[in-house]
Amino acid sequence: MIAKRREPRLVDRLVVDAEAERRELVAGLMRENAAISPKYFYDEVGCALYGAICRLPEYYPTRTEVGLFQARRAEIAAAIGPGRQFVDLGAGDCRKAEGWLPFVAPSRYVAVDIALPEIAGALERLGADFPGLERVGVATDFSHGLDLEGILDAGPALYFYPGSSIGNFTPDEATAFLAGIHRQCATRPGSSLLIGVDGKKEKAVLDAAYDDALGVTAAFNRNVLRHLNAKFGFGFDLAGFSHVGFYDEREGRIEMHLESLREQAVRPDGHERRCRRGERIHTENSYKYAPA
Ligand code: AVI
Repeated sequence: MIAKRREPRLVDRLVVDAEAERRELVAGLMRENAAISPKYFYDEVGCALYGAICRLPEYYPTRTEVGLFQARRAEIAAAIGPGRQFVDLGAGDCRKAEGWLPFVAPSRYVAVDIALPEIAGALERLGADFPGLERVGVATDFSHGLDLEGILDAGPALYFYPGSSIGNFTPDEATAFLAGIHRQCATRPGSSLLIGVDGKKEKAVLDAAYDDALGVTAAFNRNVLRHLNAKFGFGFDLAGFSHVGFYDEREGRIEMHLESLREQAVRPDGHERRCRRGERIHTENSYKYAPA
């Protein structure tokens, strides 16, 4: 029997306050140690560049995780159990979750991401292989907490958080985020979290993973300026900044920065921020964890 194809449901919970975003961005840029939130990496071009990063020889996390999942799929699926509400955190193109669906036979698939167009397209595509599966897309910025009120029912859920995205939180934020997931699991007995966390390793391996020979990570990093120019009219000169990505062993984290190649003035929103040659705008941290 052919299952009747269900249409995906899209829920937009992104609170868009463009003025507040602007103020926050300007405040970050005007600080002595200028910074831009990594969430601005992920416009359409940024999502495509991140997809390309995941295929680079130097960027081992995706490959390693895919290998682990393939090797241990049945064992992990048995531990999860069937019929869970599959909550895909940072779903993107939904490809990471896709391989799990036949194994965990979820009661519904909930794709959560900041980029609604990306998940809308992916959910549509998933309908071809899983026509009878209830598919819900939720656009939200869950870095400040995960609100799935009215979307999940009282049944058990599987929270799926692969790709070591947890590393892009500070350790305190990561702890708070995991505590929030734990609370949601506690009210739904039989729930679990399947998470991929990148481990600490040799500095040379980490440095190469975030500063690849082809320059894709450099393009991904500089794209944040293009995105801010397009969205807020900030007028960054992309040619005036170069990518810096390295592992800081003391902090246990990758840092990415955009380094000013010359003395220049950046004028976000009518404010003036002078950048000396060599001065950096901090764009991302990616923490690496020891098993303990
Ligand atoms: C999305 N996140 C897990 C990536 C990471 O490795 O921290 C983002 C990234 N930044 C540079 N390369 C990949």
